[in-house]
Amino acid sequence: MNSSQITAAAGGQGPRAAYRSRLLYFTGVPDGDTENGATVFLEDGLLVVEDGRIAQIGDYRRLVSGLAPNTRIVDLRGKLIIPGFIDTHIHYPQTDMIASPAAGLLPWLETWTFPTERRFDDPAHATEVAHFFLDELQRCGTTTALVYCTVHPGSAEAFFTASHERNLRMVAGKVLMDRNCPEFLRDTAESGGRDSETLIQRWHGKGRQMYALTPRFAPTSTPAQLGVCGELAQRYQDIFIQSHVAENADEVKWVAQLYPGYRSYLDIYDQYGLLRPRAVYGHCIWLDDTDRRRMRDAGALAAHCPTSNQFLGSGLFDFASAETSGMPVSLATDVGGGSSFSMLQTMNEAHKVARLSGYHLSALNMFYLATQGAAQSLGLDGQIGTLAPGAEADFIVLDPQATPLLARRTAQSGSLEELLFALAMLGDDRAVAATYAAGRQLHARQAGA
Ligand code: GUN
Ligand code: ZN
Repeated sequence: MNSSQITAAAGGQGPRAAYRSRLLYFTGVPDGDTENGATVFLEDGLLVVEDGRIAQIGDYRRLVSGLAPNTRIVDLRGKLIIPGFIDTHIHYPQTDMIASPAAGLLPWLETWTFPTERRFDDPAHATEVAHFFLDELQRCGTTTALVYCTVHPGSAEAFFTASHERNLRMVAGKVLMDRNCPEFLRDTAESGGRDSETLIQRWHGKGRQMYALTPRFAPTSTPAQLGVCGELAQRYQDIFIQSHVAENADEVKWVAQLYPGYRSYLDIYDQYGLLRPRAVYGHCIWLDDTDRRRMRDAGALAAHCPTSNQFLGSGLFDFASAETSGMPVSLATDVGGGSSFSMLQTMNEAHKVARLSGYHLSALNMFYLATQGAAQSLGLDGQIGTLAPGAEADFIVLDPQATPLLARRTAQSGSLEELLFALAMLGDDRAVAATYAAGRQLHARQAGA
């Protein structure tokens, strides 16, 4: 795609536009690395977008003659359009501390994270970082993310305001922390609950924004604060819940001391009513099979964060055990513990983590997990993560020729799996030619950028 094509597309935000390209989305779980009935792939397809939603999708030749006369057609042959990526675990306040090394999770939190998050008591700072963060997500093709703010209610207010202005579908929440963190980042059980409830009422369901109740992790919440979270989760059944669990061996030991008498780390959240559909737990490395089955039975979702787990030396996610147990899994960056905003790079690392335990994670499966799979697990299927008619028109244009190496490698690919695999291993923000949310172009890569 050259930039004039993209600019033309951006200009056509009127009622109807149609994009001619290769098109890909999933209606269910792909079968290994071969296309099955759950993979919808059109070599010469047409995606018709109207009023922010997908109106039609099908073969170009079948649809073109029936297009309404004022429909503008954007020619993107050679590219690949897929649904926007869904990143199920990321911290926007950690944008400025990405790539900060430490000897594991707990020292990393003390040395880098807490001092960085302190600055979000300033709403102007929060707003500035929120916009940079959203720009970066757009550059990487991520159109929905589950986002941690800081303990300051103003950090969530700033984030939602920025996302609402762009009409992005985002899920976010104010962190709750009332112990084991610096005084300047502490709320209380009462204030954390009150501030969260105010934000739920202000933002959950406003435009495309949705709220996630966000107790950081068990060590930084007292039993009283987890109790307040449980009550809110009960009162607001359709909000999301997000936290961390079983990320790091030292953390797991510490949690056992802080919460004696529980069967496991995950069991603490369970006992407080925080395991249920729309609950998303980051990492899930040191779970046992009982925990995994409990995640499955509760309908809770694991967010696998491979770049973070390697960067912080937390451990290797066990894909085979997750699959055997039926625990739902999604992919996430966990910036700033994670070292990339790109879901393509996240796939690259997920594949390698899986390989280390002898598990093959196909590209079809990874693209499914980052789109339809995440949407389904979050209770958002039909809305995002798909190109099916009726869905919100959040989609991205991937460029298999974005770099000389990608162009050379993808010229040799003999199957869809091979094409996607090359994009996942060799691609990053450069492979994202354009990003659309609710039918509107929010990012177009400039040649050479
Ligand atoms: N556990 C508690 N807080 C955090 C955080 O900010 N990042 C990661 N990776 N793990 C956590
Ligand atoms: Zn995290």
